[in-house]
Amino acid sequence: MKKPRGILLAGNWKMNQGPQATERFFSELKSKFMQLQSKTGGLKQGELEICIFPPSLSIFTALKSVSPLPFPIHLGAQNVHWEKNGAFTGEISGPMLKEIGIPLALVGHSERRQYFGETDATARKRTESLLGQDFRVILCVGETREQRDSGKTEAVLLKQLGAVLPGAHQHLDGRLVIAYEPIWAIGTGLTATTVQAEEAHQMIRKFLWDSFGLQAAGKTRILYGGSVTSENIQSLLDCPNVDGALIGGASLKPENWITFMEAALASL
Ligand code: PGA
Repeated sequence: MKKPRGILLAGNWKMNQGPQATERFFSELKSKFMQLQSKTGGLKQGELEICIFPPSLSIFTALKSVSPLPFPIHLGAQNVHWEKNGAFTGEISGPMLKEIGIPLALVGHSERRQYFGETDATARKRTESLLGQDFRVILCVGETREQRDSGKTEAVLLKQLGAVLPGAHQHLDGRLVIAYEPIWAIGTGLTATTVQAEEAHQMIRKFLWDSFGLQAAGKTRILYGGSVTSENIQSLLDCPNVDGALIGGASLKPENWITFMEAALASL
């Protein structure tokens, strides 16, 4: 197998697709998945995993819609509070999600950092709390255009990781996934080149190795995110240190998932 950690494809719907659109999405996806059944049937456990992060309001509809699909899809939450319950208007908690069978969450997405006050400190609290509740977490990190242009990419990534991971190091057994998402590439149509993506993923893997050892570096999946499309996904997945993709806008179209999955199958 070319990909020692398999491939993880995650779709971040952001604030798109209410319950009705969610139902439509999965019923279209079902017919698309049928076309792929002969290729996905022979996959071994863990070789290809698909996760979708709908808005909280659509999670229940998504949950009902994924069970009859011919290929398993895991669902996750886009944001979860670190406390388990309490007076936190507008928030949802880990135990609520576990109650409906969804122990998976995104943490530290740049849009949460930019618009909703997420910091490295709150990302750390969420990560530690959720991993402690047996969640799987996709932690997002990435640099701005300005930081890249001034040669600070590595410093920024290491600072973000260094601020969150020490408290989570005992969970670097595959349950924590890191998404490298250069901010300048998110929603802009400006994808990182394969050289830029591979270089950043290598920096992250080296940091994991230096800080937590070979096993942590070997088991932690690192996804690329930022304007991933059906046109560029193959070249990104072919990078040795890219273990999958976190896809925003392009994940909203069921037809794109055929290309995403075919690209993943070709790179495995
Ligand atoms: P995008 O978003 O694919 O629309 O650029 C990616 C993300 O924000 O996770």
